[in-house]
Formats: sequence, C-alpha cells, structure tokens
Amino acid sequence: MKTRIIRACTGESGPGIRRAARALRGGGLVAFPTETVYGLGANAMDSQAVAGIFKAKGRPQDNPLISHIAGRKGLEQLVDRVPRKAEDLMSAFWPGPLTLVLEKSREVPEATTGGLPTVAVRMPANDIALALIREADVPVAAPSANLSGSPSPTCARHVLDDLDGRIDYVIDGGKTRIGVESTVLDLTADTPRILRPGGITHKMLLQAVGEVEEGTPGGRAKSPGMKYRHYSPKARLILAEGHGKTQMLAERYMEKNLKVGVIATDGKTYNADTVKKIGETHEEIARNLYQTLRKLDEEQVDIIIAQTVKDQGLGHAIMNRLKKAQDK
Ligand code: TXA
Ligand code: MG
Repeated sequence: MKTRIIRACTGESGPGIRRAARALRGGGLVAFPTETVYGLGANAMDSQAVAGIFKAKGRPQDNPLISHIAGRKGLEQLVDRVPRKAEDLMSAFWPGPLTLVLEKSREVPEATTGGLPTVAVRMPANDIALALIREADVPVAAPSANLSGSPSPTCARHVLDDLDGRIDYVIDGGKTRIGVESTVLDLTADTPRILRPGGITHKMLLQAVGEVEEGTPGGRAKSPGMKYRHYSPKARLILAEGHGKTQMLAERYMEKNLKVGVIATDGKTYNADTVKKIGETHEEIARNLYQTLRKLDEEQVDIIIAQTVKDQGLGHAIMNRLKKAQDK
C-alpha cells in the first residue's frame, strides 16, 4: 500500500480532507494530527477497519482504542446514557485533551473496546481533526500513530518513519501543540478515576467534579494499555535529579565507552556525547519530549540520562511517560 501525504494548514474541509474522510468511510486508515499527538484513525463502528489499526501498529488486540468525535451525534452513537458528571466535564474541557471512559452502546464493536463493556471517548482540540471527523461523519477510533512500543508521534514525519506503506493517508498538520497524550478518566464507577495522567490535570478535574481518584484500585489493570510497555526509546533511559547527579551519571557511562545522551530540563550545560535542552517549562518539555527520544535513537546513543521534572500538574504526565520509558 502506498501512503499518501495530505498537507493541511487550516481546519477547512478542502479536497485533501474530503479524500481522507472518504477513505475512512471506506474502511481505510488515516493518520491525523490532534492537539496531543498524531492519531491513527479508522471508522470506530466498523470492526474490520479497526482490525486494520491493530495490524498496522502491531498492537495487542485487548488494548482498547479511543473513539474521537466532533459533536453530539458521535457521542450518541457511542453511548446510550451520558452521566451528569460527564456532561460537566465535557462542557469544561471539550474540545481538549480529556478522554472519558463510559458504558458503551450496543453498536460499538468489541474490536474498538478490546472486548470491554466501556468505550473511551474524546473530542480533540484540533481543527484538522475536527474537520476530518465531521466530514467522515462517523466516530473515529484512533490510538497514537506509532508502532506499538515506540514513542508517540508529534509530527507527520514520525508517523511515516513508523507506518509508511502500512496506512492509506497521513494528514500533515505540523508539530502537535501539547506533545503528551490525553488524560484518560474512568467515569463508570461512583468516583471518577484517572487511568492515565495527561494534559488535563488532577487539579483541573477536581475543580470541575469535586472528587477524583488516581491509579488502579487493587492493582487491577482497568486501563489495559497500562500493562504494556510504552513510549520506549531503544536506548536505556535513566532518570536523574539535579545537575550534579546528571553530570556524574553521564561521565560514568562515557568512561565505559558507551554513547551517552543527556535530556536537560534545567537549561544548563553538560558534558556528554549529545545534549538536548528540551525546555524548562512543563509545556515546552511535554512538547519536545517524544521527538527528542526519537532523535536520540537516530543518533544511536546507548544510554539516555533524562532529568526529572517537578511531579505536579503537567509535570505529573511528563514523569509518568519518563518512568514508563525507563522500565523495560
Ligand atoms: O491524546 C491521546 O489520547 C491520543 C490521541 C491520538 O487522541 N491517543 C492515544 O491513544 O494516546 P492510545 O491508544 O495510545 O491510548 C489509549 C489509552 C490506552 O491506555 C487504553 O488502554 C486506554 O486509553 N483505554 C481506551 N479505552 C479504554 C476503556 N474502555 N477503558 C479503559 N481504558 C481505555
Ligand atoms: Mg499510544
């Protein structure tokens, strides 16, 4: 299969978006930008089309997908009942980087939800994504558009590096604004629970609905994706706090003749084989993190020393991704 690139600068539904939407309706695979990372889309209501996503990514079948919508109609196809808390959260944060897990309707195929009775729904804050979904006129199931296990793509080039020849289209909308995936919030229990931290923080959610828990109760993997290795660069990644520790580790591994890359989040200078200053605010760091992990793999470093950030707000989502990249 030849993967075609569509360049889209605005959210207007031009001929490129229309072609991609037609492909989606016909059961094809289209990668598109969102405000978080690029997604690999298929018609969420078509189990065969959805099977294509798992195949292209090499993704385990029991890891459910997020269904993306552009309005009320899509929501009504996916769920029969919208709880009050969901309404409050939607009006506070949609379109935006918040995914809500709700009881699914009978029409949603099991392939989309990994066999679960629930469905994850989100309305992305990206004009190109919204135009595509609106034009396709179906909910669009889309995981991040990377090969399973590699860092999520934040530009069209990353999508092609992983999936060229495996998908029909990629819509190039430039670099994504946020850079880490959406917050996944389970609304099927009495108390909403964060299954994956992301762009919408615990504090923001608390303000909207009063009570929010985090993590999985009793260690049960409620969000199946959490049990899989994720976001991993090929090199070994080690977390380090502060300038002294970072420099010490870099030197220790260079002495062993290993190629060392440092990811600096303090703007300071380091002595290592390659040094990436990825920004000092959480927003900059989130935006640059995945592209930096990919770059360091291209440079074939053996060891990545990544500086920690303050585990708070968006920093909590960044630390979550760094820790997952660390243990493999
Ligand atoms: O920002 C994002 O969320 C991006 C963009 C493309 O929208 N998408 C994304 O999808 O990160 P993916 O497939 O890489 O991650 C989806 C996460 C997984 O951890 C999955 O297990 C969880 O959401 N999930 C999906 N459906 C679920 C459900 N019914 N119950 C619990 N967790 C679910
Ligand atoms: Mg992913």
